[in-house]
Amino acid sequence: MIVALSGFMGCGKSHVAACLAKKTECFFFDLDDTIQMEEGLSVSEIFAQQGEASFRLLEYEYLDRITSDYRDFPTDIILSLGGGTVLTEQCAALLKKNATCVYLRASIDELVRNLEIVGIENRPLLAGTSDLRQSVADLMAQRSTTYEKTADIVIDVDGLDFDTVADRIIESLN
Ligand code: S3P
Repeated sequence: MIVALSGFMGCGKSHVAACLAKKTECFFFDLDDTIQMEEGLSVSEIFAQQGEASFRLLEYEYLDRITSDYRDFPTDIILSLGGGTVLTEQCAALLKKNATCVYLRASIDELVRNLEIVGIENRPLLAGTSDLRQSVADLMAQRSTTYEKTADIVIDVDGLDFDTVADRIIESLN
C-alpha cells in the first residue's frame, strides 16, 4: 500500500511522513525532494525557468513512476506529496487508484505560524507575497474542496506534534 500525505504548504507533510515511516519501518519518499534530486534543480528554479505548468507535469511524471514502481511493494510506502499535487486531475486519479490519501488539515492560523518558522523561500507560490496570511487564505479557498475530495482519511493537525499526527494516521489506517 502507498500512503500519500497531502495538505497545504506548511501543514507538516514531510516531517509527519518521515516520522510515520520510522514508526512503521517503511520506505519514505518526498515527491518534491525526488523531483529536485532527479532534475538537479530546486522547486523555485523549476518554477522560474520552466513555469508552474512544467512543474505540475514533473509532479505527475514522478508520481506515476513512484506509484507504478511501488504499487505491489511488500511493505507500505509513505509518500509526502507537494501541496498542489492533488489539484492536478491526473495526479488525483493516480492516487485514487494506487494510494491511500491522507489529508493533513490545518487552519490558516496554524499554516501561517508554521510557514513563518520554516520559511517560504523555496515555495514560489508564496515567496513574493507582502501579506502571507492573505495569500494562504486565498489559495486555501481555491483548494480546500479538492483536498477534502481527494482524501481517504482526514487528520486535523492544529496544535499536534508530528509524532502525534503519525500515531493518528496509524490508528486511522488500522
Ligand atoms: C506547492 C507546494 C510545495 C511545492 C511547490 C508547489 C503548492 O510543496 O510542491 O512549491 O502548489 O502548494 P510543499 O507543500 O511541500 O511546500
